[in-house]
Amino acid sequence: MNVLGIESSCDECSASVVLDGKRVMSNVVATQIEIHRPYSGVVPEIASRTHTEWILPVVKRALSDAGVSEREIDGIAVTSRPGLVGSLLVGLSFAKGYAYSLGVPFVGLDHMLAHLYAPQLEHDIEYPFVGLLVSGGHTILCVASGVDDVAVMGTTIDDACGEAFDKVAKHYGFGFPGGVAIDRLARGGDSRAFSFPLPSLHKGDHRYDVSYSGLKTATINQLDQFWNPGYEKSAENIAASFQKAAVEILLSRLEKVVEDTGLKRVVAGGGVAANSHLRERLAARSDLDVRFPSLKLCTDNGAMVAGLGYHYLARGERSGLGENASARVARFRRTYP
Ligand code: KG4
Ligand code: ZN
Repeated sequence: MNVLGIESSCDECSASVVLDGKRVMSNVVATQIEIHRPYSGVVPEIASRTHTEWILPVVKRALSDAGVSEREIDGIAVTSRPGLVGSLLVGLSFAKGYAYSLGVPFVGLDHMLAHLYAPQLEHDIEYPFVGLLVSGGHTILCVASGVDDVAVMGTTIDDACGEAFDKVAKHYGFGFPGGVAIDRLARGGDSRAFSFPLPSLHKGDHRYDVSYSGLKTATINQLDQFWNPGYEKSAENIAASFQKAAVEILLSRLEKVVEDTGLKRVVAGGGVAANSHLRERLAARSDLDVRFPSLKLCTDNGAMVAGLGYHYLARGERSGLGENASARVARFRRTYP
């Protein structure tokens, strides 16, 4: 089954053809980074307007790269939540119209579930596993028992992990996107320069939750307080110290989920899963079986959407033309097991 996947939840305009949920035939990602760079952040209105201009050529290119004609598309999958609603609506409306005109089914699906599916395009990973979903808008620790059977264990109580990277980078003018800029700067820095505070572990139902606003505030407003004399207050050192603390927060909660569930398989996904320090730290864990998507499949892309969408379409699930975009996640369970 050839599934066309469409992703437009934020600032990447992407389309891909994936065969049987596994074989990526094409994956065209048109990034708007240069357009939003002058603002050091994604401007929602500009993002959705740009999607309207790019969506058709991006889809056409995905079909021609895959060597697949319109008539060979068996179904369409599209991100319908969560994300910037104006941006989501462009992809969703396009998918509805295109599916209707081709006479094929379409399905709207959850972007975070698609991130969690991304590594399945490159590996065969058995369920269940612990999922670490870290993007610009979400931070979710979960247990996946199937492609869309996912129980949230913990989430952020304030800022998302990627959001903290973006806000720190924006404040210091490190570059855009913030996570990429901090990752690059940190390579030349010393993470011992600042000892930023880590949030204390919560108890009870919230024991797997994370928090990033304290680290963000400490890095932006209280730098001197956490500075270790003898080290330079350089951009590189700020980046390295912040990045180490940000990753430490994730790992401490992940550790608890692994401990409590007894699961040794860990799958990371989302833009922050591209972070080199996070990848190094997790790869060093010989007691765990850790899988990451390659860098191109960490950040937003249509292939993960097409891959996940195959599973819905293959079991006969379809969305109706009344399907709407939503800023929030859905389809996650709240309890495990
Ligand atoms: O998944 P994604 O492309 O879009 C959302 O769904 O949000 O993730 C974007 C986020 C941004 O916050 C960006 O700064 C962060 O991922 N990011 C990184 C890296 N590359 C992208 N964060 C840390 N290190 C990176 N190398
Ligand atoms: Zn994403």
